[in-house]
Amino acid sequence: MTQAKESTSIHQLRCIACGAIQKSAGQNFRCPACGDLLEVSFPKKVGKPENLRASWSERKLSLESANQSGVWRFRELLPALNRGEDVITLREGNTPLYSLPRCARIAGVERLQAKHQGMNPTGSFKDTGMTVAASFARQEQFQWVACASTGNTSASMAAYASRGGLRSLVLLPEGKISWGKLSQALDYGALTCQLKTDFDGCMRVLSEVVERAPVYLLNSVNPYRIEGQKTAAIEVMEQLEWQPPDHLIVPGGNLGNSSAIGKACLEMKEAGLIARLPKISIIQAEGANPLVRAMRGNGGTSLTPVHAETMATAIRIGNPASWKKAVRVLQATGGTVDEVSEVQIALAKAEIGADGVGCEPASAVTLAGLKKLVARGFVKSGESVVLILTGHVLKDPEFTLNFHRGDLFAGAEHAEQGEVLAAQRRAPVVLEANANAVLRALSQHRK
Ligand code: F0G
Repeated sequence: MTQAKESTSIHQLRCIACGAIQKSAGQNFRCPACGDLLEVSFPKKVGKPENLRASWSERKLSLESANQSGVWRFRELLPALNRGEDVITLREGNTPLYSLPRCARIAGVERLQAKHQGMNPTGSFKDTGMTVAASFARQEQFQWVACASTGNTSASMAAYASRGGLRSLVLLPEGKISWGKLSQALDYGALTCQLKTDFDGCMRVLSEVVERAPVYLLNSVNPYRIEGQKTAAIEVMEQLEWQPPDHLIVPGGNLGNSSAIGKACLEMKEAGLIARLPKISIIQAEGANPLVRAMRGNGGTSLTPVHAETMATAIRIGNPASWKKAVRVLQATGGTVDEVSEVQIALAKAEIGADGVGCEPASAVTLAGLKKLVARGFVKSGESVVLILTGHVLKDPEFTLNFHRGDLFAGAEHAEQGEVLAAQRRAPVVLEANANAVLRALSQHRK
């Protein structure tokens, strides 16, 4: 059966601030009445939980591309396209939930798992949202799609646009994204512009571009992106046999992903798929912490943009578009926020690597944050925790190599931090090409 025939998900676009319902979205995906963000809402009830669960697992065995997608197999909780054939899919989603035994010991919790969204086709969680939003762009008959990005959105958008026969325009902060991500956008065929500004500056320029040219905006202000990104949380629950963990921990940048994961949990609870909500907590880098400041300063009633600086370039964002949605998620689920230092991020990344999993720097803020939440007593040692790892370890090899070679902080760390970091460093050794040299290295290493 096609996607459209089976789906029950008639949807509306609703303003998150004034509640006005819109038939369709304007170029900037903002409410024409008050200018705030829109979200997808579903006026009709979805089916019975047991029927939904059964269809979702049956579809995994299907040979049809939309069923094989770990996004579209959950179509009852997604907005429906008019025609199923419009789906642009790279078989995204269906990502693993790994246990992290070493990290659990380090963080001081008994049950720690990671939902690895870096195992998506272009190496990040963005693919789950992109399959939905790019498909809507094609349905609306746009020829061009565009985004501002710290790298992963652009890689994902470029891939999905090309798969769907669309052209893509990428705006990137010059010199502030990893080579891996930049190279993906080039290979997947985007028109790639490196602007002499930061991510927030790229967003400003892009909002003007979409007003002046017929290009479809694919940043996470696009509510269809958020819908696709919900599926990470749905899969987590499915993988845990619908028993929610006590805590979900998500990195925070532009705050679309935390909003999506929260929206999914609320909708699953409403649909009777889960009996209670996990607490969703958001972690930012100390140098890019506008949400942490807002929550601590005024309980999230207003947000003051900051100038963002962090080596976790994916989350180097000072003026997050979806902050109001994220605040609602924190409040609805009883989660919290925290911030982590550059040293804590680097250490946590190497620890996740040493569990045989690995991730990019921005994803490692989750483990670094968990350690702080345990120390604060917010997460108890007996509680279950799932970290959302957002990007693949190969996304930023320069960071990884610099860390293991001891160059990342170029001697800037304090002595006591240096010791902790050194314990996690595994620099490559250069040897003469003979067995004796290698055996000597092996015996030194085994001591
Ligand atoms: N982790 C990674 C690996 C990311 O690429 C991003 C965002 C985030 C976390 C934060 O997610 O913005 O939804 O709060 N990357 C965007 C980009 C901004 O352009 O690729 P968020």
